[in-house]
Amino acid sequence: MSNVKSQIHIPVLQKEVLEYLNPKPNESFIDCTFGGGGHALALLEKNGPQGMVLGIDADPELLKTAKDNIQNTEYKNRLVLSCGNFANLKEIAGKEKFAKVSGILFDLGMSSWHLETSGRGFSFLKKEPLDMRYDTNNHLTAEKILNYWSVSEIEKILQEFGEERFSQQIAQSILEERKLKPIKNTSQLIEILKRAVPFRHQHQKLHFATRTFQALRIAVNDELNSLKNALPQAIEILKPGGRLALISFHSLEDRIIKNFLKEKNKENLIIILTKKPVGPKNEEIKINRRSRSAKLRAAEKL
Ligand SMILES: C[S@@+](CC[C@H](N)C(=O)[O-])C[C@H]1O[C@@H](n2cnc3c(N)ncnc32)[C@H](O)[C@@H]1O
Repeated sequence: MSNVKSQIHIPVLQKEVLEYLNPKPNESFIDCTFGGGGHALALLEKNGPQGMVLGIDADPELLKTAKDNIQNTEYKNRLVLSCGNFANLKEIAGKEKFAKVSGILFDLGMSSWHLETSGRGFSFLKKEPLDMRYDTNNHLTAEKILNYWSVSEIEKILQEFGEERFSQQIAQSILEERKLKPIKNTSQLIEILKRAVPFRHQHQKLHFATRTFQALRIAVNDELNSLKNALPQAIEILKPGGRLALISFHSLEDRIIKNFLKEKNKENLIIILTKKPVGPKNEEIKINRRSRSAKLRAAEKL
């Protein structure tokens, strides 16, 4: 176990997630976004000796590494890993015999492995092919969007999924580039953005590529629809008294979660445990900059 733990960075809002999910001995949980497994291991530390955790992740490569890592740990018999999209949560949970559970976690978006190791173009700080898929069996990549989608479709995703104010200029700049040569890698995309975003906006606190990269990633992985599909399934799978914890990293996801919880609260299906979303403490932000935009919301099934 020390072996595995040493390879895992501390997950975002770990203490708060445990507080809200409140794992007890022998309870079972589903981690819908296993990633590097940090949250799942924290749950396994609390729900022994017989409690189980189902870890789901859409990324086959990431999950294979995770499987290899847990082979020789004390948790191998209590952790079930399943590669799939949480949009199919109920089906996956049923298949893996987790039909009713005490808690479900979503820690949305990409993992640090995607940014730092995957080589799939998630980071605008590295020169990599424009892939951006979690599930590498899917056909749609960022490269396909940039080279084949119409300018108006590209503009629309930049607006809707990136809330990018220069969406029109960026879409135009993409069109001009691809008339000359195919758009292949992240560095080429950064050059396109430099031509489209006014110079004075290229030196703000938020990197000028952030919104475009976010929009492409959301579109490639159909992230908002997956979340919308998964949320009602999560409520169904929870036992009465079971808890749902959701960590989001941008306002689009947070809005979906907030509205969903409100609606289910009105229907008397859940109580909301977080009046306002819970964010990281300053100490956590200092150690892990990515945590700065994290928002946790939690609810309990009635
Ligand atoms: C922020 S990371 C999770 C990190 C994890 N909590 C940890 O402690 O290491 C999010 C993970 O969710 C996965 N993911 C994103 N969308 C998904 C989806 N629709 N279905 C399944 N997994 C998804 C990504 O592949 C990524 O590994």
